[in-house]
Amino acid sequence: FDAVDIIRTKRDRQVLSEDQIRWVIDAYTRGVVAEEQMSALAMAIFLNGMTGEEITTWTQAMIDSGETMDFSSLTKRTSDKHSTGGVGDKITLPLAPLVASYGVAVPQLSGRGLGHTGGTLDKLEAIPGWRAHLSNDEIMEQLESIGAVICAAGSGLAPADKKLYALRDITSTVEAIPLIASSIMSKKIAEGTDSLVLDVKVGSGAFMKDIDQARELAHTMVRIGQSAGTATVALLTDMSVPLGRKIGNALEVEESVEVLAGGGPADVVELTVALAREMLVLAGVDVDPAENLANGRAMDVWRDMIRAQDGDPDAPLPVSKHTETVVAESNGVVSAMDAYKVGVASWRLGAGRARKEDPVQAGAGITIHAHIGEQVKAGDPILTLHTDDEERFERAKEALDGGISLSNVASTRQSVLLDRIG
Ligand code: URA
Repeated sequence: FDAVDIIRTKRDRQVLSEDQIRWVIDAYTRGVVAEEQMSALAMAIFLNGMTGEEITTWTQAMIDSGETMDFSSLTKRTSDKHSTGGVGDKITLPLAPLVASYGVAVPQLSGRGLGHTGGTLDKLEAIPGWRAHLSNDEIMEQLESIGAVICAAGSGLAPADKKLYALRDITSTVEAIPLIASSIMSKKIAEGTDSLVLDVKVGSGAFMKDIDQARELAHTMVRIGQSAGTATVALLTDMSVPLGRKIGNALEVEESVEVLAGGGPADVVELTVALAREMLVLAGVDVDPAENLANGRAMDVWRDMIRAQDGDPDAPLPVSKHTETVVAESNGVVSAMDAYKVGVASWRLGAGRARKEDPVQAGAGITIHAHIGEQVKAGDPILTLHTDDEERFERAKEALDGGISLSNVASTRQSVLLDRIG
């Protein structure tokens, strides 16, 4: 095979054969196909798309580029969740222990944040002592004994995706449905979970800004999962406004613990319970997952899970050195709170990173005092901004500009659940 032929095929809107796809992914992983050739191919795919069959083959070739995990020796069934990413999306933290509290193993191999969306590992690292890196033996042992593991994904899973994702990032070829779907699903299928629930976000804070695109992405991923033998369901959920009232690393741990204690904001609880129900049904368990939030069983699993990874669930969480309050300029009801703008502001306060190697601030972020549909008087606090570097406040406030609106008309917050595909 020849990379130039393969690029030309896709450039001219023809269908790639299974052998062409397998060859190009393997040769790219080995460094035989050059970065500039793969970037041309990624752009051709971005512009011309792929058939369902091409996407399935592409995904399988990325899985075969590395190692796969095998949970078949566990005595429990496995179920996992993946979110396409959003602002204030801390759901993995309460969800993994909640599902595990019903005897299902949750191998949640996670990543770090880049850009305006946070990363699960960055959040948990706000807990003093907590360790993200586990060996495969530790993962298996913890899944068997406690049931929930949230840890760093090993570098051996889908190495082709690691290279390709970095390339897409610098060639403006990230937002292509075939490439996003195969990227996400190759990692989840290589991880070896029996079943998978996808939380596909829709709105300004998400990859997919409109529901039709999000639906197409969800259908594509569900088809890939099903053809690989991984039972897969997708929920489309709202990411036009931030999820919950706390955004940032330690702040999101704090809100997750509120949910595990039976409280927390209604939208975070609603989504946690909805995703838990889907994961449990796929694993053959029919219960009302709200029960183990109310009775403390999910909290017990959380504490065991944090301790097993050397974290102290009772240690005080880090707080930022400085805070500043954003107040209402008039009386009214909060009618818009743009998730993307709030996410960028939190990132600029230090909760996220601009480059892969940057550190994050554990205490940085935003607390929301008045969310969508809530009434304020002039001078009431709407947000508190948190950071260790006072000079970050200005750029964070610039990011928020125009993102929050007040109106005279009462409005109520819609359900966060938009659709279900599977
Ligand atoms: N997340 C991924 O892992 N891959 C993508 O392509 C997009 C989001």
